Amino acid sequence: MRGESERFKKKVILSEEKMRYQKKNSLWKSVLRISLILFIIVFAYAFIRYNIIKGVGFQHVPLFIANKAVALFSVVLIALSYLLGPLARFFPRTFSSKLPLRKHLGLLGFSMAAIHGVMSMLLFTPAYYPKFFDSSGQLNLTGELSMLFGIAAFFIFALVALTSIPSIEKGMDEKDWIRIQRIGYLAFLFVLLHVLVMGIEGWLNPSAWPGGLLPISLVAFIIIALTLLLRIVVLFSGRRI
Ligand code: HEM
Repeated sequence: MRGESERFKKKVILSEEKMRYQKKNSLWKSVLRISLILFIIVFAYAFIRYNIIKGVGFQHVPLFIANKAVALFSVVLIALSYLLGPLARFFPRTFSSKLPLRKHLGLLGFSMAAIHGVMSMLLFTPAYYPKFFDSSGQLNLTGELSMLFGIAAFFIFALVALTSIPSIEKGMDEKDWIRIQRIGYLAFLFVLLHVLVMGIEGWLNPSAWPGGLLPISLVAFIIIALTLLLRIVVLFSGRRI
């Protein structure tokens, strides 16, 4: 009798573990499905703007153009991860069930930012990015400031991502954990400055935009500004997320 009840308990534990594993797996599957569609849209935008209309050579698709798409993709994923909370508050029926996706979207967005950092470092020469360098080949103020903001953002996001690892999250006080997660907004503000400093000159000259298409840095700026604005609205409306 005793042996049978032990076996039954083990069976229940195993099936609970299996269910948890399947649930986690299906969350990743949903995120990867949405992400694939988003990446195709973002990549197509970069390809059309820079290769087809502006005439950048196709040999630059694998790194130079892909880097622009990866950078914007990262912004879109992180923005979605931050927007789900407020959206679930305002439209609970549609978005509440999507809340568990926040962590996956955020981690994937951070991974894309890391890839963007590596790709940028490989390309970082005056020939690819003349706007960041002066005639002596040193970084100018735009280059130094913009890179400083990018690196600051990356390090803060790394901290946020690290504390999202379940074993680290478990060992932390809940209030500290929420505090660290929230400094992600500061990192997003740094990304806003990263693209503002590098892009502002081009943004103010719409007649030079290839095919009238917005620069990728401006698209990123608008997405981040809207995300941070919604956060401020939520803060002042007294709703906690
Ligand atoms: C290690 C830190 C970082 C470095 C070294 C870096 C480097 C660069 C460089 C060189 C560019 C110019 C790309 C181009 O015009 O083709 C750029 C643009 C950009 N970066 Fe970063 N970045 C960093 C962090 C980030 C982070 C954390 C994000 C977002 C989460 C981000 C988002 C963007 C976006 C959206 C652009 C605009 C792309 C464009 O206009 O083409 N960057 N970054």
